[in-house]
Amino acid sequence: MRLLNLILAVSLLSCTTDPLPVEPDNGTTEKKDEKGQETPADPQKPGTTVGKTLVIWYSFTGNSRTIASALCSHITADSLEILPAEAGLDYAANNYAIGSSLIAAIRENPSSASSYPAVKDVQVSFDKYDTIIIVTPLWWSQMAAPMQSFLFKSASKMAGKTIGLIVTSASSGISGVEQDAKRLVPQGKFLSESLWIRSSQVSKAKDLTAQWYDKMITPQSGEQSMKVKITAGGKSFTADIEDSETGKAFLGKLPLTLEMSELNGNEKYCYGVSLPKNDRHYDSIQAGDLMLYSGNCIVLFYGSAGGYSYTRIGKLASTSGLSEALGNGNVSVKFERL
Ligand SMILES: Cc1cc2nc3c(=O)[nH]c(=O)nc-3n(C[C@H](O)[C@H](O)[C@H](O)COP(=O)(O)O)c2cc1C
Repeated sequence: MRLLNLILAVSLLSCTTDPLPVEPDNGTTEKKDEKGQETPADPQKPGTTVGKTLVIWYSFTGNSRTIASALCSHITADSLEILPAEAGLDYAANNYAIGSSLIAAIRENPSSASSYPAVKDVQVSFDKYDTIIIVTPLWWSQMAAPMQSFLFKSASKMAGKTIGLIVTSASSGISGVEQDAKRLVPQGKFLSESLWIRSSQVSKAKDLTAQWYDKMITPQSGEQSMKVKITAGGKSFTADIEDSETGKAFLGKLPLTLEMSELNGNEKYCYGVSLPKNDRHYDSIQAGDLMLYSGNCIVLFYGSAGGYSYTRIGKLASTSGLSEALGNGNVSVKFERL
């Protein structure tokens, strides 16, 4: 991870675990583009390429911070935290009075700079970035006010960039936040699918952000992807392949569909794929480990094991649903490059 804070020290914001206000999606939200003139760029479909990436995040109670950090552990990106100019405000106090009035002011007059709360000034070299991922909480079915302020000020510099949106809320749907993002950055090339992470799912942020990112983004041509898609039992998984002679040789053989045999209730294996080996003894092997045994046998573990010599080929990013997908018996498994 290369997590580079481009700005001042991170301020510790007060936390709240109080019941959260939930506003219906079909509320009074202004959905029309107030600027009314600019044509949004075409949405970016899954598989779009990515150059240098900036992750911009704002967080009041810490969820967006966790999500941004999880994403940055999966990709190479710089990161930028947006901070309100006035520190220490409790947007949730008095039944969310401050947060509510900030959102109301923006809804009232979204095209006026004076509607947006001040945020700390930061200098961002947007020219360096092709892709920007925005990570923001939802407030009253809209984008949190400080993130709106930043985007309002920075819109012209974000024109033409590929933009991804990750939104966290307690339960409200995120369509209002998507509309805010497109209103605020009308010339952004938005990814066709945003990622919604409910507060209750934040503990799974690593898996959720990795799956969304890998689905939406393909590394720029010329950049060597070390990821593979593994499909079995109708479900797909992403594995990171080792940057080693073995890993590269394995990538060179893809796509491969292997009829893998069941063994010990924790692994599927298939002989007949010869790769350069560099064995070492493993005391502990985990579900998701993709190994080479004896120089010519591919082994995919879906349970823990240990005590044998292997060469590591790679590792699955997430093993959720893996044992169900592989099933109890022999199984056909497809490996392909991402
Ligand atoms: C002022 C305010 C308004 C909120 N409004 C909503 C809402 O309308 N619907 C909802 O599901 N969650 C709402 N929430 C909850 C947050 O969206 C949710 O807790 C989110 O995960 C917080 O992200 P953060 O920890 O990065 O600040 C609100 C929170 C605040 C502070």
